[in-house]
Amino acid sequence: MSHLEVRPFAADDIPAAAELLAQRHRRHRQAQPLLSPRYEQPSATEEVVRAAAEAEHACGAVAFRGGAMVGYLLGSPKTSPTWGDNMWVEAAGQAATEPEAMRELYAVAADRWVAEGRKAHYVLTPADDADLVRAWFRVGFGQQHAHGLRPLPQPGELIEPKVAIRRAERADIPVLAQLEVTLPEHQIRTPVFSAAPPPAIEESLAEWAEDFDNPDFTTFVAEHEGEVIGSAVGCALEKSSSHSTLARPENAGFLGFAAVLPHARGLGAGRALGEAVLSWAAEAGHTCVVTDWRVTNLLSSRAWPALGFQESFLRLHRLVGY
Ligand SMILES: CC(C)(COP(=O)(O)OP(=O)(O)OC[C@H]1O[C@@H](n2cnc3c(N)ncnc32)[C@H](O)[C@@H]1OP(=O)(O)O)[C@@H](O)C(=O)NCCC(=O)NCCS
Repeated sequence: MSHLEVRPFAADDIPAAAELLAQRHRRHRQAQPLLSPRYEQPSATEEVVRAAAEAEHACGAVAFRGGAMVGYLLGSPKTSPTWGDNMWVEAAGQAATEPEAMRELYAVAADRWVAEGRKAHYVLTPADDADLVRAWFRVGFGQQHAHGLRPLPQPGELIEPKVAIRRAERADIPVLAQLEVTLPEHQIRTPVFSAAPPPAIEESLAEWAEDFDNPDFTTFVAEHEGEVIGSAVGCALEKSSSHSTLARPENAGFLGFAAVLPHARGLGAGRALGEAVLSWAAEAGHTCVVTDWRVTNLLSSRAWPALGFQESFLRLHRLVGY
C-alpha cells in the first residue's frame, strides 16, 4: 500500500472533499434513510464544505494515498463561552474512506488548534459509522451528546398518556419559567457538569411573557393532581442552529425543550409530553422528528431513546489538559 500523505487543508481541496462527504452521507442514509437525500450529491456537499473551509479561523487537514484523497478534516471555533477555547468539527467537517486516516488528520489539524490555544475539541460524527467513532475514541475523544431522529408515530403506536396534557396558556407562564430553569439546573450537576449557567428566573419570565404568542413554537404542559408539573416545546427543526447541513433532515419537526419538575419525574409525564410533540409534528405536516440530549444526562438519555429516537449523529469531545 502506498504511503499516506497528510497536509493542511487548502481551498483547492474542496471539490474532492465534497465527493468524500457525499459518499459518507450515502453510507449514513443506508442506516438513517430519514436524513436528507440532498447531500448524496457532491454539488450539495461542495456548498457546505466550502462554508466550513471559509468559516472564520477555519483550518484542518487533508490525507492522500496514491494521489487520491482518502480523508479530510475541517474545524472552526464557536464564540460562546460555554464551549471554552474551542474548535468544532460540524456535520460537514469530516469524511474518510479509511477511518484510520482520521487519526492522522486529527494529529496534523490539532497541532495547530492547540498551538493557538484552542484546547476544547468537538466533533459531530455519524452515529452508525463504528470504525470512524472508534478512530476518534483512539485519539482521546468520548461521547458528550447525541442527536436523535425518528419517524412520525404510526396509527395506534401512542398509548393513552398517564398524565393530562394540554396546550400551555398565558396563566402558565410562572411555571413555564420555572421549568425552563429546571433543565440547566439539572445539567450543571453531576454527572453532566454543563458549563451553561441557568438563567435568572426573572429573565426567563420576561422571555416567556414576550414570546408566548410566537406561532413558530407550540408549547404543551402536563398536569398531575391539578398542578402543572412539566412542559415541552415543538417547532420546525430550522429554528435550531445546532442541527444544520447534513444533520438537518428535510421538513423535520423538533422536540426543542422538555422538562418535568424534580418531584414529578418518572411518573410518565416526560413520555406524555414527548408524544404530544410527536402528534403535533404529524399534524403540522412534518415528515420526521428530531431531538438531542447530553448523553451524560441520565434522565433524558433514557427518556428519548425510550420514545423511539435513534442516535443519528454523536457529538464527541476532547479537552486537551494534563
Ligand atoms: C427527561 C425528562 C423530561 C423525562 O421526564 P420523566 O417524566 O422523568 O420521564 P417518564 O417518567 O415519562 O419516562 C420516560 C421514559 O424514560 C425511561 N426512564 C425514566 N426513568 C428511568 C430510569 N430511572 N431508568 C431507566 N429508564 C428510565 C423509561 O423507560 C420511560 O419510558 P417508558 O414509558 O417506556 O417506561 C425529565 O426526567 C426531566 O425533566 N429531566 C431533567 C431535565 C431534562 O433532562 N430535560 C430534557 C433535556 S433534553
